[in-house]
Amino acid sequence: MTTVGGVNARFIAIEGLDGSGGTTQLTRLKAAFEARGAAVMVTREPSDRPVGKLIRAQLAGELGDAVFPYLFAADRRDHLDAVVLPALARGENVLTDRYALSSFAYQAEAHGLDRVMRLNQDFPAPDLTILLDLDPQTCLDRILARGLPRDRFETLDRLRTIAAGYDAAVLACEGRWRIARVDARGTADAVAERVFAVVWPD
Ligand code: TYD
Repeated sequence: MTTVGGVNARFIAIEGLDGSGGTTQLTRLKAAFEARGAAVMVTREPSDRPVGKLIRAQLAGELGDAVFPYLFAADRRDHLDAVVLPALARGENVLTDRYALSSFAYQAEAHGLDRVMRLNQDFPAPDLTILLDLDPQTCLDRILARGLPRDRFETLDRLRTIAAGYDAAVLACEGRWRIARVDARGTADAVAERVFAVVWPD
């Protein structure tokens, strides 16, 4: 149970490379909470609030990589204060599509992991972070199959760097964050079963 909401609601983050299926799994997880009769809210980072919107507009834009760690941290502060913490306080489970582990993995290249972690040190760890494990080439194949414009992170080289970034972030969080790596190969149904087994182990 989360320590930030003060009630019995869980704060769960889904993480992974672009193309690893996080958004799909979040939708399934939300349905599974609802099927259990639990109040649940789904949200995401970058958020749908002012800083999050700026980030989305700039992901393929002119801002340099060195600016992003600060923008993501500012968005996270606002997202926590305006969306996540109030929902937890109302007793709703909160499922977020990405959170601070994304910054640790994606921004470490430009900023160094230690500095990114320091920028995020005031933010609470989720009760559970689910890291969808899928190799960079499969992720890129899925991204290309979508046919959408690609953002700055969606090349094979960068996906490989970010995958290594996730590995380093998991090690750095050991003992402080509860992180479950889930094999994200196979069908969405098969992956959802693995996710549910982590969320409801009994
Ligand atoms: P994403 O969830 O992929 O949004 P969409 O599905 O709308 O494209 O997030 C956008 C990108 O932002 C993604 O490539 C990961 C990146 N990102 C970071 O680099 N750092 C962060 O802290 C977060 C939350 C996301």
